[in-house]
Amino acid sequence: MQIIPFEAALGAEITELDAAMALAPAAKAALRDALDAHLVLLLRNQSLDDPTLQRFSEIFGELDPPGPNPYGAPFLPAFPMINVISNIVEGGRPVGNLGAGEAVWHADMTYIAAPPKAAILYAIEVPEGQGDTYFANQFRAFEALDADLREATAGLTLVHDAAHNSAGMLRRGHVEPADPTETVGARHPIVRRDSRTGNRALFLGRRPHAYIDGLPLAESERMLDRLWAAATRPEHVWRHSWRAGDLLIWSNLAVLHRRDAFDASARRLMHRTQIKGDQPIIE
Ligand code: SIN
Repeated sequence: MQIIPFEAALGAEITELDAAMALAPAAKAALRDALDAHLVLLLRNQSLDDPTLQRFSEIFGELDPPGPNPYGAPFLPAFPMINVISNIVEGGRPVGNLGAGEAVWHADMTYIAAPPKAAILYAIEVPEGQGDTYFANQFRAFEALDADLREATAGLTLVHDAAHNSAGMLRRGHVEPADPTETVGARHPIVRRDSRTGNRALFLGRRPHAYIDGLPLAESERMLDRLWAAATRPEHVWRHSWRAGDLLIWSNLAVLHRRDAFDASARRLMHRTQIKGDQPIIE
């Protein structure tokens, strides 16, 4: 297996590896190290069924169940740990989440106490040249913060919205909050320390409905606008144009991602797993 870092602020391609094969412990450790070092890994030309996607995912830790299904039942009843990301509708019923619209910048499921530490997304069908996905390195974003903003974030916690998904859809059982001070969800430090390296990363979750605990709303909004502009600066970002057979793994706690909208009449189908994480450390 070869690890070829991208020239961007994050990401590497792994070549000469068939993710469907049972891998030796040294190869598994090399993949985990590569994810820690590069934060996003791309494997092209893979051919995975659901059991092999699950087995490959377990290299990175214990599988974490997907968030609550907006339609009330798992998309793949035989594989409830696998989420489906798709715009396809069959028999009047969506086969997956997120539709064909833009998915705004976010990290996954940060509205729970212990958000997943990694996500694995496997492209089965994609409309070529559309629906690109972007990843932003939040270690770099923290390092490059203006000094005043870096100081201002010390000790602050952010309320992460549990009510909406990254397509802006209201989740089952939630009501629209009147304003962000009423947002319901987990509270996490704005700056997260990596328990292995001690390095700090911005940990913002998603912008809509976010609220910095205890600040007047206008102040919270101003600080969040500055933080989000810093977090998603083009120099921190790598852009991925999908091909069928692509397998992407990313560090959910150190990376934000977003997806372009695509033609709703095209078919896009992806299967996705995620890996259990730890509760962020509050200093
Ligand atoms: C996601 O936000 O996890 C979906 C990314 C994508 O559809 O490319």
